[in-house]
Amino acid sequence: MSEKLVILGAQWGDEGKGKIVDLLSERFDVSVRYQGGSNAGHTVVINGVKYIMHLLPTGILHPHNTGVIAQGMVVDLKALEEEIADIEAKGNPIFDRLLISDRAHVVMPYHKLLDKLLERKNGVGTTLRGIGPAYMFKFMRKGIRVVDLFDQRVFERRLEENVEFVKSVVEKVFGERFEIDLRYIEEEVLRPFERLKSRVADTAKFLRENTKSVIFEGAQGTLLDVDMGTYPFVTSSNSSALGLAHGTGLSPKYFKDAKIYGVAKAYLTRVGGGPFPTELKGEEAERLRQKGGEYGATTGRPRRVGWLDLVALKHAVDVNALDGLILTKLDVLDGYPEIKVCVAYEYRGKIYEEFPSSLEVLENCKPVYETLPGWSGSTKGITDPEQLPANARRYLEFIENFVGVPIVMLSTGPQRHEYLFLKEVF
Ligand code: GDP
Ligand code: IMO
Ligand code: MG
Repeated sequence: MSEKLVILGAQWGDEGKGKIVDLLSERFDVSVRYQGGSNAGHTVVINGVKYIMHLLPTGILHPHNTGVIAQGMVVDLKALEEEIADIEAKGNPIFDRLLISDRAHVVMPYHKLLDKLLERKNGVGTTLRGIGPAYMFKFMRKGIRVVDLFDQRVFERRLEENVEFVKSVVEKVFGERFEIDLRYIEEEVLRPFERLKSRVADTAKFLRENTKSVIFEGAQGTLLDVDMGTYPFVTSSNSSALGLAHGTGLSPKYFKDAKIYGVAKAYLTRVGGGPFPTELKGEEAERLRQKGGEYGATTGRPRRVGWLDLVALKHAVDVNALDGLILTKLDVLDGYPEIKVCVAYEYRGKIYEEFPSSLEVLENCKPVYETLPGWSGSTKGITDPEQLPANARRYLEFIENFVGVPIVMLSTGPQRHEYLFLKEVF
């Protein structure tokens, strides 16, 4: 079997990608993460045991699966080492089934420092995992790649250049003192590398030559994509399908037969700053946050919550050319007498039916809502489409009609078995 499947976020991240990829990756031999880094937190609950995947592709949890950290990622080696140890401590040996791209960039301790300093001015609300600065160094052509760690002279030269640059920025721009602590570099980078280096490979070549089935797992979501999202309140990578080719090192031709599904919550959340037209405030927000357990898997921050935004979701469908949607957390809407969905924005008397690129419009527009009837029965844990309450079915149909692609699968709880298929997925 040669099969390719892409699962990515259709909103502002945390859509439940981890849970879905865990389910769908069972039949795949290889799973790939291709952008972002430890800013991601993908939750999987298997037999009551919770795993939070940050750098590793979720599919690696299946004992037959090879997990690939591809070249488009920025890798915090210490965090990776800890993540592996954590999973292995739960009785799942994964080390020998992991491949790390030699071209991936390394997140250095001073990237995290810069993330913190920049955050004071920018207020993006980043995860402080050094993601933005690591990509900044990559595109400034100052980055340290995994391959550079094999050659001490190359590494030391790059490090010296980096330190000189960071020192001048920290001292001149931020007015703080900066001295590099080499013990820290040893602890955070070099020692973890010693333990991980046997898993480093040319992963693009591996994927090109691999004729088996591969599942690609996006991190973050389309609205956080550096080009197609709510810039500048975005992450620093292409977290939509646009990131696939350069993130993996594979030609776009490689993906021509791939199915691409977007994961979306039945409502909407966002962590950090930035526009959120359908955001709820006060008690209404607190109720939804509590019901949905909306606290960040990486940082523990309370997530901002709101109604489903179909204008934004349609944008994700279009940007990614989605074959369908996978809707999660429908159960969280159980018991709401009415459910609102945003079908357009209004800004200065003008109606926007398409997702605007302007931050000004996104920040100051008012959502135009359609109100749909809720359902009284429970959808929690249902696995049979026949058990869907009629109004829940109507809700799904309304979404499908608006965005123009089918909802192929539903998630009805955090546990592995809580899902149902509505259409053929593979
Ligand atoms: P990801 O980053 O897209 O993988 O999503 P996160 O793991 O950050 O956040 C999703 C949260 O929702 C996690 O706590 C999941 O366990 C939980 N979850 C996933 N699917 C469902 C669902 O269908 N219903 C409920 N109630 N929780 C879900
Ligand atoms: P997963 O893969 C939700 C958000 C941050 C911040 C912005 C930039 O679990 O869905 P960064 O640290 O990337 O520079 O932060 O992006 N963000 C996420 N929000 N889910 C994520 O990942 C996120 N990764 C980053 O909150 O607003
Ligand atoms: Mg998450």
